[in-house]
Amino acid sequence: MIPPAKTDADLRHLNTLHLPARAARLQQVDDAADLPALTEAARTAGGSVLVLGGGSNIVFGRDVDGTVLHMRTRGIDVLARTGTDVLVSVSAGENWHDWVVCALAHGWHGLENLALIPGTVGAAPVQNIGAYGVELIDRIDHVDAWDMVDRRWLRLSAAECRAGYRDSVFKRELAQRAIITRVAFSLTTEAHVRCDYADLQRELAARGVTQVTPQHVFDAVCAVRRAKLPDPAVLGNAGSFFRNPVLPAADAARLLAAHPNAAHYPAARGAMKFAAAWLIEQCGWKGARRGDAGVHDRQALVLVNHGEASATDLLGLATDIQASVRARFGVTLEPEPLILL
Ligand code: EPU
Repeated sequence: MIPPAKTDADLRHLNTLHLPARAARLQQVDDAADLPALTEAARTAGGSVLVLGGGSNIVFGRDVDGTVLHMRTRGIDVLARTGTDVLVSVSAGENWHDWVVCALAHGWHGLENLALIPGTVGAAPVQNIGAYGVELIDRIDHVDAWDMVDRRWLRLSAAECRAGYRDSVFKRELAQRAIITRVAFSLTTEAHVRCDYADLQRELAARGVTQVTPQHVFDAVCAVRRAKLPDPAVLGNAGSFFRNPVLPAADAARLLAAHPNAAHYPAARGAMKFAAAWLIEQCGWKGARRGDAGVHDRQALVLVNHGEASATDLLGLATDIQASVRARFGVTLEPEPLILL
C-alpha cells in the first residue's frame, strides 16, 4: 500500500545540514513500481518535484512548493556471477555505507575506498561520488531509472551515465526527469586494492599494514574520514561544499609559479586539480565561525551548521569564501552540493 503524502512537512531532519525548510507534500517511496502513479499524483498536485535520498548533498535555500519524493526502497540482489566477477543490483533507498559494509562482508570487493560517504545508493551516481582514489563510475555496470517526463523506464550503461568529476548525465540532461531506482555494481571476489592516496598510505603505514586487504582499506578509510570529516548526526554538514577547481595547464602553471606550495594533482590533458581546502585555509577561513555557520576546523572544504544557521547564513559565508579565494588566487570555487534557491 502506498503511504499517504504528508502535507506542509518539515524537512529539517531530512537534510544533513539541518537547514529549516518545508515541503508542500512529502511522499515516501517504498516501492519503485509505484513511481508512475506517484509522479503522476505529484504532477496533478502541482509545483516542482524533488527527489530526496539521504539529503546529504543539498542546501535548502527555500521551501519546496510541490512534492518531495523521499526514496526509501530496499533490496540487494545478485544478478550474475562469472568466475570472480559479481554483478549486484541495489535499490536506490539503501544507505550507501551499509551497502559498502554488506559488499565487504560478502567478499565483493571494489567499494571499500568509498566507505562512510553519507547518503543513499540512488544518489551516488548523480554526483559520481568519489574518495581516496576511486570513483563510483569505476564500479557501475548500469543504472535503472524512471523518466517522469517521458513516462518510461530507462536503463543506462556506465558510459551513458557520462560521469565526470562530481558530475553525470543525471545533473544535466536527465536532471528533473530521471529518478534512479536501482544501481548495478560490477564487483570482484578478487582482492585488488587501491591505496595510493597519500592519506590512506599514511594511515596504513601507521597501522603497520604491509599486505593490504580490502578490509584494511575499509578500516583505514573510516579512520581517516572520522578524523577529518564531521559526522552529520553530530554537526550539520554536506561534505565538501566546493568542488576542487581544475585549471587548464597554463593557468595551473601561473598559480604554481606564484604559490609553489599549493596542493595539486594532475588531471586530464595537462590540467591540474587544486585542493580547494588548501586555497580556503590559506585565506584564513579554517575553523572560522559566523553565528552558527562555520568552516570545519579539521577540513576547510566543509561548511558546518553549529545549530541554528539558516541557508542565508551559510550561503553568505560561502560567497565570502569564494570572494577571498578569487581575490588572492584568481580561482573561482564552484559549490558542490545542489543549492535550491
Ligand atoms: N588541505 C588543506 N587544508 C585542509 C584540508 C586539506 O590544505 O583543511 C589540503 C591538503 O594538502 C590535503 C588536500 O588539501 O592533502 C586534499 O585534502 P583531502 O584529502 O581531505 O581531500 P579534498 O580534496 O579536500 C576530496 C573530495 C572528498 C573526498 C576526499 C578524499 C571533493 C570536492 N572532495 O576532498 O569528497 O572524501 O577528496 O578522496 O572532491 C565530498 O565530495 O563531499 C567529499 C567529502
